[in-house]
Amino acid sequence: MTTALAFRDVNAFYGPAQALFGMQLTVGAGETVALLGRNGAGKTTTMRAAMNILVRRTGEIDVLGEPAKGTSDRIARRGVGWVPDDRRIFPTLTVRENLLLAQKSARAKDREPVEFDEVLEILPIMKRLIDRRGSALSGGEQQAVAIARAIVARPRLLLLDEPTEGLAPVIVEELQRAVADLPGRFGMSILLAEQNLAFVQSIAQQVLVLETGRLVYSGTAAEFAADPSIRERFLAIGSA
Ligand SMILES: Nc1ncnc2c1ncn2[C@@H]1O[C@H](COP(=O)(O)OP(=O)(O)O)[C@@H](O)[C@H]1O
Ligand SMILES: [Mg+2]
Repeated sequence: MTTALAFRDVNAFYGPAQALFGMQLTVGAGETVALLGRNGAGKTTTMRAAMNILVRRTGEIDVLGEPAKGTSDRIARRGVGWVPDDRRIFPTLTVRENLLLAQKSARAKDREPVEFDEVLEILPIMKRLIDRRGSALSGGEQQAVAIARAIVARPRLLLLDEPTEGLAPVIVEELQRAVADLPGRFGMSILLAEQNLAFVQSIAQQVLVLETGRLVYSGTAAEFAADPSIRERFLAIGSA
């Protein structure tokens, strides 16, 4: 498998309202692709379409070499980790219990989970959170746990929806190191929705920009970095 995720001419709809128009994207094996765009551009919808959840769509989507059909659970079973923007972790459970559940769930899907030691090595912040309850964590800490939980399942494709939104800089730095480490360590492919350009540029090989549901730019991270006019045209207002 050389392509982890592919969209061909995808239109997506919420009821009568169209949210994606002719979306094209390819995430190669081991590649990190960033999806940029202002609020409402269609980043989250792109991830929902890949998981076949909440949106009606036309066009073709392949996830890990197979069409994105059936329930999101079935798609996840192929080896897809999705960290939605709501950071849902179990509030009454400790971080350790949250991660144990993820390990158990991975085993139930015949996937070999990542051991705790390795998770702590990737995300050292987990060390001091491990025995705290979900409800006692800050938003940034919850986000780190949500990502750790996705990593535990050793996904082949990871969908990260605005992981740095509202986070303190020190947590952003740690996430940056962690996410940058995943392709080399596990061979993971990553689709990263973001508004934080510094974060994106340190991690992604390809950059896509969405504007009101349409792809308005696609290039390598180096090309993107070299062309400030793209940032001014599509991202300056309303981006972090
Ligand atoms: N559940 C929903 N029901 C109806 N419209 C939605 C829903 N979620 C998102 N939208 C609309 O779809 C468009 C794309 O939104 P979204 O994918 O959430 O953008 P982003 O993640 O880039 O902020 C927006 O116009 C938004 O209002
Ligand atoms: Mg979103």
